[in-house]
Amino acid sequence: MDVVSMSLDSLESAVKEIVQRHGGSEYELVAILNDVQKVCGYLPESALIQVAKGLDVPLSKVYGVATFYSLLSVEPLGEHVIRVCENAPCHLLGAESLVDVLQKELGIPMGGTTSCGKFSLKYTSCLGVCGVAPAIMIDDEVYGNLTPDDIPVILDKYR
Ligand code: FES
Repeated sequence: MDVVSMSLDSLESAVKEIVQRHGGSEYELVAILNDVQKVCGYLPESALIQVAKGLDVPLSKVYGVATFYSLLSVEPLGEHVIRVCENAPCHLLGAESLVDVLQKELGIPMGGTTSCGKFSLKYTSCLGVCGVAPAIMIDDEVYGNLTPDDIPVILDKYR
């Protein structure tokens, strides 16, 4: 279910359940936001307000964390989120050439979402697989040792 098809009541109870599952601890804020994003597809303001209420912390703190981490998004995302690592090892080994092909294939700039809502394209910090740089992640799947020629083949799996 995404937030569009979710009533405010069900959003409230979903967030409440997630906060409880994490012991109502503000130290779990990143994990809580990650779980809320899995339910809503992204982090709408109404969900951030519920998280702040549930943890009894200022909304500014929740918003600050939600906008700091590249794996979290306060904007609606496409069905598949493609994240390109922008840290030095991937950059040095050709991440920008992957970006060129991704942008061309999808017809959107980095940070954009295709008009059909299928793909979003984002930069991310290190994916933790520097040994196979350059790397990208699509949803929860990581792809490494990439060349520009690999991109259309990988995209076909999601089209
Ligand atoms: S720098 Fe790209 S995966 Fe670590």
